[in-house]
Amino acid sequence: MSEIDVKEVVREKYSQAALRVRGAGSSCCGSSAARESNNPITSNLYEGSQTGEVPEEAMLASLGCGNPTALAQLKPGETVLDLGSGGGIDVLLSARRVAPNGKAYGLDMTDEMLALARKNQQKAGAENVEFLKGEIENIPMPDNSVDVIISNCVINLSGDKDKVLSEAFRVLKPGGRFAVSDVVTRGDVPEAIRRDMLLWVGCIAGALKDTDYLTKLAKVGFKDISIEPTRVYNIEDARVLLTGKGIDVDAIAPQVEGKFISAFVRAVKPKLAD
Ligand SMILES: C[S@@+](CC[C@H](N)C(=O)[O-])C[C@H]1O[C@@H](n2cnc3c(N)ncnc32)[C@H](O)[C@@H]1O
Repeated sequence: MSEIDVKEVVREKYSQAALRVRGAGSSCCGSSAARESNNPITSNLYEGSQTGEVPEEAMLASLGCGNPTALAQLKPGETVLDLGSGGGIDVLLSARRVAPNGKAYGLDMTDEMLALARKNQQKAGAENVEFLKGEIENIPMPDNSVDVIISNCVINLSGDKDKVLSEAFRVLKPGGRFAVSDVVTRGDVPEAIRRDMLLWVGCIAGALKDTDYLTKLAKVGFKDISIEPTRVYNIEDARVLLTGKGIDVDAIAPQVEGKFISAFVRAVKPKLAD
């Protein structure tokens, strides 16, 4: 699949997800939310105290694989950019952390997600928030303008990760932090298994291998790079995700167990004197 085809498939998938959340809101049943409640990747990412901070629709639209705002150590006055902001949950949580003088931007390419995010912003009454339309491979922001880049399960969807990482580096201020949740792989995973597993996590363009992620971040200029596992998926998680998809889960168990993880990826853009 070409990069453009991948993008169109991803856009269509998340357009449908956004519309499902809006449908759930209007029918008051909540069961048709964007994500399934038993999904081992997307469920239970936020603590009770955080769920109260954002509108319910933003929580229902959450399709991430981590909780970057909990790990990013945001400070009042900072400018934060969320790559692939979806329904806006991490932007709204960040906006509270950087208030009163800071600002949180969300960037997304899918119109329906942007509409949902802006509706959630209105419900939350968040004024230090702006949602931008655009692609994470061509970030519509000036050089050296952002203190912290967050992202939640989006970079794994991109067909051009080198471009995403170099764009992130470009817009960060010197000393700025990259603080991203993502699905990554560890060790050797046979290509056929990788394809099946990436389908179950919806990562059509593919998760990066942890060592490749480190290499790519270093190549664009980041330092202090680390990858910290936040969830390690086992065969029972695979069973939940692959049931009914025609895959013999037990047969692939040895090649799957512990090799797909959600991780918190950190890096810093060097200061000019570094
Ligand atoms: C898995 S969802 C995650 C949404 C949000 N970060 C969250 O945690 O709920 C992926 C989001 O990224 C957006 N997206 C995917 N690829 C993108 C790209 N190349 N440029 C901009 N947005 C993208 C999709 O439209 C979708 O809203």
